Amino acid sequence: MKYSRIAGTGSYLPERILTNAELETMVDTTDEWIKSRTGIERRHIAAPGQTTVDLAEQAARRALDAAGLTPQDVDLIVFGTTTPDLIFPNCGALLQARLGIHGCPALGLEAACSGFIFALSVADKFVRMGEAKCALVIGAETLSRMLDWTDRNTAVLFGDGAGAVVLQPSDEPGILSTHLHTEGSHQDLLNCPVGVSRGFAPEADGRVPLFIRMAGAEVFKIAVRSLGSIVDETLAANNLDKSAIDWLIPHQANLRIIQATAKKLEMPMERVILTVQDHGNTSAASVPMAFDIGVRSGRVKRGELVLLEAFGGGFTWGSALIRF
Ligand code: UT7
Repeated sequence: MKYSRIAGTGSYLPERILTNAELETMVDTTDEWIKSRTGIERRHIAAPGQTTVDLAEQAARRALDAAGLTPQDVDLIVFGTTTPDLIFPNCGALLQARLGIHGCPALGLEAACSGFIFALSVADKFVRMGEAKCALVIGAETLSRMLDWTDRNTAVLFGDGAGAVVLQPSDEPGILSTHLHTEGSHQDLLNCPVGVSRGFAPEADGRVPLFIRMAGAEVFKIAVRSLGSIVDETLAANNLDKSAIDWLIPHQANLRIIQATAKKLEMPMERVILTVQDHGNTSAASVPMAFDIGVRSGRVKRGELVLLEAFGGGFTWGSALIRF
């Protein structure tokens, strides 16, 4: 059986750091509350004019370098984001132009915080079917552009960044399985309530609500439950015991959610790649950034078994089990 294999990883964070102390001056919050409820200490914010594709280009070039490849090798782009530069062309097309390459399919995929896992699953199938030999898979966001900076429920949680991986075909594993789920009936618990088709009508305060809205406590409970069950599903599909997993690379939304999944897997936190303290919730970017940080810090090594998981708006949730 042919597998797709991760040939290289890359990530990029914008320079500007927004600390919890600075947020204390903007909304009614405290460093202590943010750290104890979420684990977040700081987040990175894109510069004015710096877009999702700007961040993604840096991450993509780093992933290609790590794989020993060039943009000319790329024959598929799958770009997960909820904060695209434009309504269209999709960010994959914009990135393709930025990389100076032509003609290969470039998809934009929106699955909120699960965007990268969904994109990885799609690209994996193209590679395994022999339809791509070098797939660039991106998770990148500028969530700072979609926040209500007067709403303490959300303003303290999110940040900007980009991560990328390069997939190539291989006779050796590889991506062992991916598992994706969506439950649209919970759409009211986490969303951005405007769009092209529904319109951009202002609310009573005169503002167009181009903001993330979240019923945090409800989302928290469903996230913990869904991630617990997808971990079981992934292990069962591969006939593996939880003790086989070397690394958990989770979506970085909240330290307490990550701890709950680690506990379920009976994994010590030393075997979890944790980045939430440094950049908050970067939605689709969070898993590939954590992956890259795990690899570049020398912790995640070739041959190890890695479990990726994410949960986000939709609801969407997914996992990928990878022999790195
Ligand atoms: O990535 C996509 C998926 N998203 C997630 O997985 C996020 C899931 N949810 C969470 O991570 C957590 O629910 C939050 C971090 C959003 C909130 O933590 P919580 O422990 O669930 O707090 P809460 O919403 O139940 O609020 C507790 C209290 C409330 O005050 P009262 O009503 O108890 O007086 C809030 O008003 O904390 C208050 N609060 C804050 N206080 C200081 C809410 N936000 C803040 C804040 N600073 N920023």
